[in-house]
This record gives sequence, C-alpha cells and structure tokens, in this order.
Amino acid sequence: MKKVFITGADGFLGRKLGQLFLKNGWIVFGAVRKLENNVRLLPNVQYIEIKIDSIKSNLNLPGEIDTIIHCAWKYNGSKSEIAAANAAITDVLVNQAKTCQARLIFISSLAAHENALSAYGKTKYACEKIAKGHTTYTILRPGTIVGNGGLFLKTIHLLKKIPIVPLFYGGKQPIQLIGIDSLCQAIFFAADKDVTGTYTLACYPGIKLYSMYQMIAHRFGLKRFFIKMPSDIILNILLFLESLRMRLPITSDNILGLKGHHEVNSEKDWRHFQQVSKSAHDILNDFFNSNPGPTDETKN
Ligand SMILES: NC(=O)c1ccc[n+]([C@@H]2O[C@H](COP(=O)([O-])OP(=O)(O)OC[C@H]3O[C@@H](n4cnc5c(N)ncnc54)[C@H](OP(=O)(O)O)[C@@H]3O)[C@@H](O)[C@H]2O)c1
Repeated sequence: MKKVFITGADGFLGRKLGQLFLKNGWIVFGAVRKLENNVRLLPNVQYIEIKIDSIKSNLNLPGEIDTIIHCAWKYNGSKSEIAAANAAITDVLVNQAKTCQARLIFISSLAAHENALSAYGKTKYACEKIAKGHTTYTILRPGTIVGNGGLFLKTIHLLKKIPIVPLFYGGKQPIQLIGIDSLCQAIFFAADKDVTGTYTLACYPGIKLYSMYQMIAHRFGLKRFFIKMPSDIILNILLFLESLRMRLPITSDNILGLKGHHEVNSEKDWRHFQQVSKSAHDILNDFFNSNPGPTDETKN
C-alpha cells in the first residue's frame, strides 16, 4: 500500500486530502500543530505533532513514504518570522523527501510569482524555489479554494457581517477559483500518477471580485453596498499602524495582494490532471447548491 504524509493535516485542505487518500486505500500520516484535544483528527490517520516555528532538523517520519504533501502554512507573526519559518519547514521537507526518495508536492498559491507584491506571494514563491531543490517535485498553485473553510468561507462570514463592502483598486480583480473536491482530485492524481512540474489549478478566466461578492450576497439574500476605497492611502496608513505593532482586522498584505493581483491562463495545466476546469460561476453555484447553510469546517 502506498503511503502519504500530509502537513497541515487538520486544516481545510489537508483534512479533505486525508479523507481522499484513505478512501483510495493509501496509508495516511499527518502532521498537526497540536494533537491534544484536536477535534479535527480523522480515524485511521497516524498523526505526529510538528510546530513550524520550532522546526530545526529532519523529522522522524514513520517508515517509507511515497509522497509528502506540504499543505501547512504559518500565517501569524511578523513578515520576516513568517518567511523564515515557512522556508525552514519547506527545506526540512525537501531533505526528508530526498532521504525517503518520496515525491514532494508543495501547495503553493496563485499569488506566488516573481513580481508578487504581498509578503504571502513572495514567501510562497521563495518556498517554491526551495521545493525545486528536490528532483521529484510537484508545485501546485491553487486559486481561491471554494468550500467550507479557508479564505472563501471567511469572505462569506465577512459579507454577512458588513453592510458596506470596501473595494480596493476598483474591485475588478479577476478571482480564479477552484472547488475543494476538484483540487483534492488533482493533488491525488499528481501523487498517484507521478505528475511532476509547476501547475496553476484555478478556473480561467476568473470572476471579478465584486461580481463574486454580489453572487454571495444574492445567495444569502443580503443587500450590500460597495464602496471604492482610496487604496494607496489606506495601504500607507496600514503600513504606518503596523510599524507601531498594532494588530488590525485588515493588513497591508491583504491590500498588496489585491494590488499585485494577476490572472493566469491555466487551461493547459488542467490537461496534466485529466480535468477541465469549471467556470467560476459553476464552481460557486455547485458550492451554493451543495451547501444550503455553509458551516465552518475549520477550527477558527
Ligand atoms: N484556502 C485557499 O483559498 C488557498 C488558496 C491557495 C493556496 N492555499 C494554500 O493551501 C494550503 C492549505 O490552506 P488551507 O486553506 O487549508 O489553510 P488552513 O485551514 O489554515 O490550514 C493550514 C494548516 O497549517 C497549519 N499551521 C499553521 N501554522 C502552523 C504552525 N506554526 N505549526 C504547525 N502547523 C501550522 C494549520 O494548523 P492550525 O489549524 O493548528 O493553525 C493548518 O493545519 C496553505 O499552504 C495555503 O497557503 C490556500
């Protein structure tokens, strides 16, 4: 039986992946930040505890592993702490993959590219370079993952809370989506069929950010007003407040992500996974149809 090791195995994506690999008869090992009282653990997965912040050397992985999937991502802390910790764990996993002669699948992001403005995009891009230090690497760049968790669910919760929705840089950024099940299938396919290389997994074209907000608001019967923000001014204010170490509900990195947003034609990439991407509207409608009342599958 093939064996997979998944980091961030209790997260929105990692947990779904664990379920899919188990269903397909793989032996699943998972890394989580905290084992004690963790209600998100799956039966039949063997877990170990790993704190990205304090990772130093090779992990003691249980036995031979065929595929390592690096899903975990440290989001909290200063930009330099986040960059250093995420680079360190990626490096450790590359070494581990070399030792066990395992494939390494690095879950990157559409935000990762050479000219990324956000620290998130830059750090993902830097970690991609580290992942390429292993010969059998697969780098997957998902768009916004549509499902009951992650950034997408946070967006729904936010839209439910605020009657006036701020739009940065016009709000016309094309948001490229991918359904969680479709992404898990593609990741499984990469592991099972040895797909190597760097691929973008997201719908193309994307849906304009404000149109996505409108679709969500309509779905939940919400009347929302949209207001264009003086984006660069707000960005500078946020940078100033962050320099005073103030914690804010919105960060300069969120705004930079929207400023540096880009659209990628992913049509060719999908063929490597024997899938055709659905349109953004279909992805959203599938989600709405199968989730009459979305519930948060993440812990927070
Ligand atoms: N969701 C999206 O739309 C999206 C889009 C593109 C790419 N991605 C990428 O996909 C991957 C999975 O995302 P997700 O949406 O599933 O996020 P998630 O639910 O927040 O999962 C992240 C995982 O990383 C773990 N983690 C965070 N900080 C850690 C630390 N210091 N030590 C150990 N573990 C830590 C989390 O554990 P805790 O629960 O204990 O914090 C969680 O298991 C990430 O790499 C993300 O960047 C996501």
